[in-house]
Amino acid sequence: MRLNRNCLFFILSFCYVKGVDKGNFKSCEQSSFCKRHRATRETPSAYIADLKSLSLHKERAFIDVINVEANIPLTLEIIALHNYAFRIKIQEKNGLRKRYQVENALVREPETAPIILLEKKDDHIVLGLDAVNRMVIQGNPFRLDLFNKDGHVITMNGRGMFKFEHYRTRKTLPEEIPMEHNPETDSQIEPLDAEEVQQTSEEPPAEVPVNNDAEETEPGMWEEDYKSHHDSKPYGPSSFGVDLSFPGSNHVYGIPEHADSLALRDTLNGDPYRLYNLDVFEYELWSPMALYGAIPFVMAKGKEGAVGVYWQNAAETWVDVRDVPGGGVVSSLMKLVSGGASEPGPHKEVHFISESGLMDVFFLLGPGPKDVLQQYTGLTGVTPLPQMFAIAYHQCRWNYNDQEDVQFVHENFDKEDMPLDVIWLDIEHTDNKKYFTWDPIKFSDSLGMMKNLSDKGRKLVTIVDPHIKRDSNYFIHKDCEANGFYIKDTNGKDFEGWCWPGSSSYPDFFNPAVREYWKEQYAFDKYHGTTKDVYIWNDMNEPSVFNGPEVTMHKDKLHHGGWEHRDVHNIYGMLVVDSTFQGLMARGENKLRPFILSRSFFAGSQRYGAIWTGDNGAEWGHLQVSIPMVLSLSIAGMAFTGGDVGGFFKNPETDLLIRWYQAGAYQPFFRAHAHEQTRRREPYLYDETTKDIIRQAIRQRYALLPYWYTLFYENEKTGIPPMRPLWLEYPKDSDTFALDDVYLLGDSLLVRPVTESKATSVKVYFPSDESAMTIWYDVETYETFTGRGYKSIEVDMYKIPVFQRGGSIIPKKLRPRRSSVLMQHDPYTLVVALDEEGKASGTLYIDDGESFDYREGKYVYGHLDYQRGKLSFRFLDAGRYSDASWVERIIVAGLRLKPHKIFAQIQGTKDHVELDFKYEAKMHILTIRKPKLPMNYEWHLQFY
Ligand code: NOJ
Repeated sequence: MRLNRNCLFFILSFCYVKGVDKGNFKSCEQSSFCKRHRATRETPSAYIADLKSLSLHKERAFIDVINVEANIPLTLEIIALHNYAFRIKIQEKNGLRKRYQVENALVREPETAPIILLEKKDDHIVLGLDAVNRMVIQGNPFRLDLFNKDGHVITMNGRGMFKFEHYRTRKTLPEEIPMEHNPETDSQIEPLDAEEVQQTSEEPPAEVPVNNDAEETEPGMWEEDYKSHHDSKPYGPSSFGVDLSFPGSNHVYGIPEHADSLALRDTLNGDPYRLYNLDVFEYELWSPMALYGAIPFVMAKGKEGAVGVYWQNAAETWVDVRDVPGGGVVSSLMKLVSGGASEPGPHKEVHFISESGLMDVFFLLGPGPKDVLQQYTGLTGVTPLPQMFAIAYHQCRWNYNDQEDVQFVHENFDKEDMPLDVIWLDIEHTDNKKYFTWDPIKFSDSLGMMKNLSDKGRKLVTIVDPHIKRDSNYFIHKDCEANGFYIKDTNGKDFEGWCWPGSSSYPDFFNPAVREYWKEQYAFDKYHGTTKDVYIWNDMNEPSVFNGPEVTMHKDKLHHGGWEHRDVHNIYGMLVVDSTFQGLMARGENKLRPFILSRSFFAGSQRYGAIWTGDNGAEWGHLQVSIPMVLSLSIAGMAFTGGDVGGFFKNPETDLLIRWYQAGAYQPFFRAHAHEQTRRREPYLYDETTKDIIRQAIRQRYALLPYWYTLFYENEKTGIPPMRPLWLEYPKDSDTFALDDVYLLGDSLLVRPVTESKATSVKVYFPSDESAMTIWYDVETYETFTGRGYKSIEVDMYKIPVFQRGGSIIPKKLRPRRSSVLMQHDPYTLVVALDEEGKASGTLYIDDGESFDYREGKYVYGHLDYQRGKLSFRFLDAGRYSDASWVERIIVAGLRLKPHKIFAQIQGTKDHVELDFKYEAKMHILTIRKPKLPMNYEWHLQFY
């Protein structure tokens, strides 16, 4: 069937006017496995761990866990990991079918560590990474307790919600056989053989299980309908879930993507948070509904420390969050093991429920929030340093109509002196939604268009979606069809769905040959009309299927290896981007850093570039929620994220647009975008004042590019994201644990964007260290704010409340330019903000801004330090970069005494050069002009 353009408009316009239709998306009640798990009765658990079955190896242990009601043995595998983490896997011991193990999320197989048997008693076993970081396995009922230096930090199955639906054969035949099967693909999934289950128990194997499932005929176990869609469920139920409590932790964060507060809310009176990658138009705010991406990672934050859980599963997953008033997780055994643990006070508990796949869980023992982030990104990877242009300003719209329009847009940015690095082309630039092609009339000379952009140092991003138009003249379709590259229907035929081009099929990125094929399409001799300045946007990769259940793929469709879509859904989008990444690497001959924006994502997607928060709306609430959304992504490893500036749907009022630019300028990914039915809203179209305010906001972004760039470099090295919740830097300041309107960039800038209509003042929370009172300097006026708590800050339309921490040094570039490339050789301004003791420090990272040469040591990474009248610049490591520019201005804020003289000395020279300066006594600001200090040498200034 063909979806014509009117029909597409209907779908879009409908949502455009009304916002999300919740009725198009399942609630837990409508999802049979979620409902079954939520109804699991609490303790006593139906599961026991047969501790006698323990089989201990160097770095792992195996124990049988038995479902005593159904008499089904499971294997619990415990793996000790390097860097304070345990991994556990649970699956059937004699399974009828192999479970899908996520393969693409981890950077590599994690490094294991020796496992120590600390104690073995009849009722419990203690396994340790060392004497402190350990896991207690209790036999009856089955539960796990984890300890770190702060004591008891995680309990699994304390409430007895563990439920594992083993694969089984259907006892009663359905009245009607639901779907035809394809014997060919069905047989690709073999039952587990003994070795695969790692049957290592030294005990005799458990008796052949007797399947006495009372729940056999519960609705939705063997087939399930949602609206007009039928899920044939040929393998029956396979879900599992368990409760995880965090004694000592009052807050849990993570499990993006949801349009909700950063601190996760109790979900008992509504739906759980849902992780299922979906294409949701103008989504509901402050809601646990699923969105485009899923990262099954939570961080639990206690008074000081933090721990994390990474639930590695790509199937549909629901997560209940519960505020436990107190008690509940300390058994008498625990008291014994921990030397008298007392009942915890109020704390958080989560209940993870996944539809299929392997139960594969990582417990990250911190003990601090940054340690947890490092443990998590150690497993799933970090965002590689983006090119400089990628962290500058992007101008997008659905659509820039033709090459003349593109020219018009960037010329107007120039006319208005507004910096711009990237123009984006949405789906209409293609020849009838055939990706990797150009509309032959509107973009007849894409290379000419590219030349004009490149001459100004600008780039282009084109969209490449993973639904392929079923058009027998389209080369991609021909190749995919001929090679069997598409995802298959239950009858073995290519699956056909509707998306932008009408009838479409979807390449199966789980097939390595498809990934290789997709990669090759980016080569210059295949993707014609593009140059090295063209980068890629992968959209609709959840995947979006307009006529599929919940606008996505049916769960019983089949992938390479015989896996059902059910098993792999949340990882599909990441594999699309992985293939694009490989394509851009190859096209840039492994020299140029790729840039890709993706809508869908999973754990590990951070390794391929940026994501954005999808189809938001031009409403104040959407601007407000962008902050906790980006923070939540940041603490789940996605360092490079942002929302559509201005709001995708609807037309923003001018004041909303202004405030959005100001907020966007201080989020990692900074792109304006708009729906095709909105009015044009490029910033040059507005009145003089509005233009000026937006120009200033974009310029503030450009001025801070050296700082952003340094933060991204440090993120690649450490996994700590550029945009941070306050508690990441002030883990003991409990007033920071649930803030959604304020955040830090690095550890030095506090940002509280104005996100309220007609605001004349905003309340800003200033965090502080316990030991010292942090001073915060307004970055424009240098007014200081000291002491923990809220302060009211007056704001006019120009004002973006941003404060520099006393004790920090921030590098900036203040010469306005058209694009970041043109700033490359511009000199630096260093802003030194002194703390109470008159000290400050910071870092600066410099390289060519585009290539991988930095990985060969072609960079400068330096430490700036001011104390006792001496400002020094020292290299932090062996990296060297000759083209590193120089310092044209140094501003020192908070200097109480005017120096008499200042001398500079550059490494390798004997000269002490006297410098010119100005001192403002009232504000305690010193400005050194033209010190001409090179950044490719070490140097210091001495204040006398
Ligand atoms: C959906 C995306 O979310 C949106 O940003 C884009 O403009 C449209 N698809 C059209 O490609």
